[in-house]
Amino acid sequence: MNAFSDLERYRYLGGKFFEEKLYVAAFEEANLWLSAAERLIIHEEQASALNALGCISLEIYEWDTAIKYFQRALKIASQPSTRAKLYKNLGLTYFRKDDLISAKKAYEESLKNSWAIKDVRFHAQLHMDFGGIMREVDLDEAIVHSAKALSLFQGAGDLTTEGRIRNNLGILYAQKGKYKEAEENLIFALELLHRTGDTKDLTYTFTEIARLYYEMKSLNKAKEYCKKALETIFSDVTVMNKSEVAKVRYLFGLIFEVEGHLAKAYEYVEKACQYFEEYRLIQDSKKAKKTLKRIQEKISMSPEYRYDNLSEEDRQLQYLDTFLCIGDSLEAKDKYTRNHSERVAGYAVRIAKHMDLPKDQRELLSKIGRVHDIGKIMIAEEILRKPTHLTDEEFAIVKLHPSMGEMILKNRFLVDEGLFLVRHHHERYDGKGYPDGITGDELPLLCSILSVADAYDAMTSHRPYRPALFHSSALKELEKCAGTQFNPDVVGVFKKCFLI
Ligand SMILES: [Fe+2]
Ligand SMILES: [Fe+2]
Repeated sequence: MNAFSDLERYRYLGGKFFEEKLYVAAFEEANLWLSAAERLIIHEEQASALNALGCISLEIYEWDTAIKYFQRALKIASQPSTRAKLYKNLGLTYFRKDDLISAKKAYEESLKNSWAIKDVRFHAQLHMDFGGIMREVDLDEAIVHSAKALSLFQGAGDLTTEGRIRNNLGILYAQKGKYKEAEENLIFALELLHRTGDTKDLTYTFTEIARLYYEMKSLNKAKEYCKKALETIFSDVTVMNKSEVAKVRYLFGLIFEVEGHLAKAYEYVEKACQYFEEYRLIQDSKKAKKTLKRIQEKISMSPEYRYDNLSEEDRQLQYLDTFLCIGDSLEAKDKYTRNHSERVAGYAVRIAKHMDLPKDQRELLSKIGRVHDIGKIMIAEEILRKPTHLTDEEFAIVKLHPSMGEMILKNRFLVDEGLFLVRHHHERYDGKGYPDGITGDELPLLCSILSVADAYDAMTSHRPYRPALFHSSALKELEKCAGTQFNPDVVGVFKKCFLI
């Protein structure tokens, strides 16, 4: 294979993994792409590879790293079309970082260069994003840009982009107090996005509709859409979506506040604050902190509100929320395993999709993936965070976590359906796993899926005693252990998730 086809392959794979939100693999390919472009001294390609690295950093909430990549790329890129794309991404990053002035400047530069791009979608997106930024500065101008985006795109057949534009327009009208226009656009967005089935966008829109109904003081409707948003998040996992959960949780907090359930409201908003900070959503975090202070003042002024009677609280909501809370309480303790469960759930659902497993099994994997290691909360932190390898005695303690997890879930939360999965997520195909040493075919498929997803994430994450493995090395390791540690069929399917 020659150097050019290498470059094309890295570029293609980087893009594919990025679209599928497999960021570890995408990052590796984009780096290979960059090196190939550097070897061949093709400047535009170098800039595009740097752009890809910036986009991945943006997706994993590393704003400063993203900005560095985009700026490095801008030093190299000379074609207006590449510069327009780079400035757009730079602007978006500054916006996320809450630096609105730099964001506005970057978007203006992008607009200046965008004449060179023929793709209508790009222009629509540019106006839509610009509208989003102006929302904080000048609401009318924001509406003008978003309406322009819509006029560029209406009826072009790209349901996702049109849905997003209508969603944003709805938000802007809501902010302006034009509730009727807001509702129309948001419901329209919902119809479009339902047809595409993109979970992330659907969640956004459900949340925005809930926010609108909250503003309109239709609290029951607001709750209904909050629940829909949460259910959508749970029905299909994409990597790292706690920021979305935080937005829904914040809204619930606001609703509880109006209903007078102040303690509950405080709890929800406080948790949302924590997530907003973790995901560095500065604007949201500022708002949530203000709300938290307000609720706290109300509580201190009215001590009778200190305890809420929430007997009418919806069980389903509690159930969903409990899942998240217990998953988080474990990972919050340890930076090395942060979001491990969420990623494991994401990989497991992906495998299940490739195997065409039914929806209820995918949902079960999504839920259980999030709590599979919950038993670790009963293990001493010194052992879990030990910077060196464990002694035999310590490892024997760690090995108790699957059965402890089963016990926690059984006694407190009665989630029967997934107890088996929690107990057996460390079983091996050859029967040498723990706690029960079940072999091969006795092991349900979902267990084997969870175990491959778990191992891949453990290998590609940093641990105190070793650095992360590359995606390619992790895949090789899985292959090596197919038939012994792992179910070979599942490894085969997992590999396929990464194939062209
Ligand atoms: Fe585990
Ligand atoms: Fe795990």
